[in-house]
Amino acid sequence: MNMIKKMLVAPAAVLAIWAASAQAATDDAIAARLKPVGEVCVQGEECKGVEIASAAAGGGGAKSPDDIIAGHCGACHSTGVLGAPKIGDTAAWKKRADEQGGIDGLLAKAITGINAMPPKGTCGDCSDEELKATIEKMSGL
Ligand code: HEC
Repeated sequence: MNMIKKMLVAPAAVLAIWAASAQAATDDAIAARLKPVGEVCVQGEECKGVEIASAAAGGGGAKSPDDIIAGHCGACHSTGVLGAPKIGDTAAWKKRADEQGGIDGLLAKAITGINAMPPKGTCGDCSDEELKATIEKMSGL
């Protein structure tokens, strides 16, 4: 093989490896994205998460704070997404409560939304009482 050919073959091989691994990464990503949507629950078989989802969607009776957190608030408040006060970080919640005039002040902000916090924390069918109980549970106040 002459020099010119070698120079052309080497980058082509690198490119082929890169393309193959890029494809694998894409397949994994697609599989990961499809997974939660593709899970099917058959009646009579155990199906984790469905009770929480249906309860949070308003399926029958009052929603418990745990259901509301699991279905809505936890998405941001468990890890503190976008500066959301974290669940159990009572000091952070206390500071906010003091600024808003107590739990009812926090409730008012939770209903209207504040900055990156969406109105009712995306739980559109949560009652004020349910939201308040949820705030108390998350804050520990
Ligand atoms: C999309 C993310 C997100 C979701 C979902 C979410 N929050 Fe928040 N929340 C935030 C962020 C961000 C803040 C901080 C906003 C700020 O002060 O800039 C916040 C702040 C708050 C506050 C404090 C308000 C204040 O006056 O300081 C309360 C109360 C609250 N959230 C309640 C809830 C409840 C209850 C739920 C579920 C029903 C919920 N949040 C769902 C992002 C979220």
